[in-house]
Amino acid sequence: MEAEWLLLALRGALKLWLCELWLLLLGSGVNAHFLPHEEDVDFINEYVGLHNELRGDVYPGGSNLRFMTWDVALSRTARAWGKKCVFKRNTHLEDIQMSHPVFNGIGENMWVGPENEFTASIAIRSWFEERKIYNFENDNCSGNCSHYVQLVWDKSYKVGCAVTPCPRIGNIVHAALFICNYAPGGTLTRRPYQEGVFCTRCGIRDKCTDRLCSNADRDQATYYQFWYPSWEDPRPVVCNPVCVFILLLRIVCFLLSVLIVTIVQPQFPNILLERQMVFTPEGSERRKKTLQTQTKEVEKEGEQEIGEEQEEGKSSEEEEEEEKEEDVSET
Ligand SMILES: *[C@@H]1O[C@H](CO)[C@@H](O)[C@H](O)[C@H]1NC(C)=O
Ligand SMILES: *[C@@H]1O[C@H](CO)[C@@H](O)[C@H](O)[C@H]1NC(C)=O
Repeated sequence: MEAEWLLLALRGALKLWLCELWLLLLGSGVNAHFLPHEEDVDFINEYVGLHNELRGDVYPGGSNLRFMTWDVALSRTARAWGKKCVFKRNTHLEDIQMSHPVFNGIGENMWVGPENEFTASIAIRSWFEERKIYNFENDNCSGNCSHYVQLVWDKSYKVGCAVTPCPRIGNIVHAALFICNYAPGGTLTRRPYQEGVFCTRCGIRDKCTDRLCSNADRDQATYYQFWYPSWEDPRPVVCNPVCVFILLLRIVCFLLSVLIVTIVQPQFPNILLERQMVFTPEGSERRKKTLQTQTKEVEKEGEQEIGEEQEEGKSSEEEEEEEKEEDVSET
């Protein structure tokens, strides 16, 4: 019986444990879609490379455009906003530390189209196409050139993109929503760059890479491991040091409870069993019978005691009389 109980308890604990593990794995984002994940290296190389290629190829030529590198926080912000599946500008771009842990005033470009037609190249080249309606000389646009101006904005040097599958956006079913975020963001209040021969207006410590101004310090990659946009919903499962500590603590607690059950319980077999405290109908009847016999005995004993007392009373009276007689003889 005890072995059975132990097995049951262990099995229950194991089930709970496996369930938690499964939930953790599920929460960590197993992506079934064929669209690339925002930290997919090939995807990153493709869109960062294309950004730099197009920036080095502006007309009229630019003298101060910066080389771009990937930023993980920007790509997470792009993913977090993409999850909403709306073709609207991110409302958190201007708020401090809401879209990036270091930069404020983040830039954004968006593309939406059928999921099976998406490539990063198609989306980014569609933004670059806006240069045909942009007039650099007059700094005006016959339409909306905001994508192009951000794409070739001279001061921007960090980029992070993400593509999200959406059931429906506008008239497009099975849509792909592609978002790129830029830091520092373009203000779009002036011409996007200074005209001239490439790399002739770079910073003092800058080098020239692919006709763009690069800088080892500026272009260093920072992996913000535990930073995620606070407004992301649902929040991704991130195990920071506190979370790792709690996880370890739970494992220790689990092992400890197993240890207690396997070692302490056999030594005190009744410690957790309530079965023996329960009154069964048989037992109570037996108890009633024994109780009745006990009361009968008590009654008998009581009668005997009364008889004895009466006898004792008699003898004490006789003694008193004897004492009186003794007193009389003395006087
Ligand atoms: C751009 O500016 C020039 C000069 O101010 C003007 O002639 C032209 O019509 C403008 N074009 C657009 C599309 O606004
Ligand atoms: C141009 O398009 C962008 C993005 O769709 C939008 O945020 C911006 O307000 C538009 N600008 C104008 C002048 O229409």
